[in-house]
Amino acid sequence: MTQPKKLFIKTYGCQMNVYDSERMAEAMGGKGYVQTDTPDDADMILLNTCHIREKAAEKVYSELGRYKGLKAEKPDLKIGVAGCVAQAEGQEIMRRQPMVDLVVGPQAYHRLPELEAKAREGKKALDTDMPEEDKFEKLKSRPKAKRGPTAFLTVQEGCDKFCAFCVVPYTRGAEVSRPATRIMAEARDLVERGVREITLLGQNVNAYHGHDKGLAGMIRELATIDGLERIRFTTSHPNDMDDDLIDAHGDCDKLMPYLHLPVQAGSDKILKRMNRSHTAEEYIRLIERLRSARPDLHMSGDFIVGFPEETEQDFQDTMALIEEVKYGSAFSFKYSERPGTPAAERPQVPETEKDDRLQRLQALLKTQQRALQDDMVGREVSVLFEKAGRMAGQMVGKSEYLHAVHVEADDVAIGDLRRVRIDSSGPNSLSGKLV
Ligand code: 5AD
Ligand code: SF4
Repeated sequence: MTQPKKLFIKTYGCQMNVYDSERMAEAMGGKGYVQTDTPDDADMILLNTCHIREKAAEKVYSELGRYKGLKAEKPDLKIGVAGCVAQAEGQEIMRRQPMVDLVVGPQAYHRLPELEAKAREGKKALDTDMPEEDKFEKLKSRPKAKRGPTAFLTVQEGCDKFCAFCVVPYTRGAEVSRPATRIMAEARDLVERGVREITLLGQNVNAYHGHDKGLAGMIRELATIDGLERIRFTTSHPNDMDDDLIDAHGDCDKLMPYLHLPVQAGSDKILKRMNRSHTAEEYIRLIERLRSARPDLHMSGDFIVGFPEETEQDFQDTMALIEEVKYGSAFSFKYSERPGTPAAERPQVPETEKDDRLQRLQALLKTQQRALQDDMVGREVSVLFEKAGRMAGQMVGKSEYLHAVHVEADDVAIGDLRRVRIDSSGPNSLSGKLV
């Protein structure tokens, strides 16, 4: 019997890359590859990369540098770069790091097995096409292995919004939705293999139009699958939040009361320059409507500080918006100049100013996050158990609001969904007892 070849995949960036890495591993499984969790014994190393901020892209080159020794020892080792850096830089990657054998963009990875074969023949292999064909259809169906209780499922990719700071419309291409029938089939398959919670993914997931009733229709149909207990979706744009999707937060029990709805900034001047096409007030009114459909909804968001020409007053407007919304969690970043995007051409805010604003913003978000978490004490939540805790007899899961919850219990299994009364709140998680 021939030994399976080993594939090491390192994933950077967003949840969609996590999903893509799984699918690439499955595609290479069809070519006799099994996954390994160390580059040292790999026959192929694949970096699934992120281009969203400068630091993320630079990390790829420093990681590649680390594999020089390995490649010298093992000439048969093939090194590939996938994802958004692959799309944005293409051939340039092989010029900067000649040891890279293959480069594959996020819309072409169904061709990875062919590219690997080409690389094995000693040729450089590159594919950054954005073909019309549906890569998910071209991929082998997912193997039937048992899975953990949570899974991602990409339903939509790409973006037509062209926010002035963002590379996504260039690296992931135009908005495309996968047909509802395929989403249903993939979800049923995941549930048969043990999945209880599915997070629907898309760069603009609420612009999903693969179902005749949009994302809300897709969610309602998914909710009919027995054994699927929880549905989440990320990431959304405020302008695509339609009435039906707002209502679904109130009437679809399986849709979790946690919503990631990035606003990026709270100043109308900056929002306009970012090309976000809505005001701070419109965003706040939207959240009010969502909260009247689902009063316990926890909000999450993304923020950028130091966008070109952001003044202290503009920054204060962002702080005021945060004060008003009260976030359960959030991601915040210093603006990073991305070549080819309109904002990169504008007058930049000094780095020290960006650092200072980021610190102040994160301090506020942290206080809010902690307050909402502490507010869970004394309440009953539902917990989907995902793994054993560090201490014997301890199990860890997530509440409907995505808080990590620790419970001491011998009779809880991974995949169980149980009611828990919260009795304490620590720095990063809650603890409680089974009800
Ligand atoms: N600089 C900083 N943050 C960015 N994001 C996207 N592009 C940039 C950039 N050029 C952030 C946005 C987005 C999240 C995924 O990354 O907040 O919502
Ligand atoms: Fe980027 Fe804006 Fe599209 Fe989000 S909506 S992916 S931030 S361009």
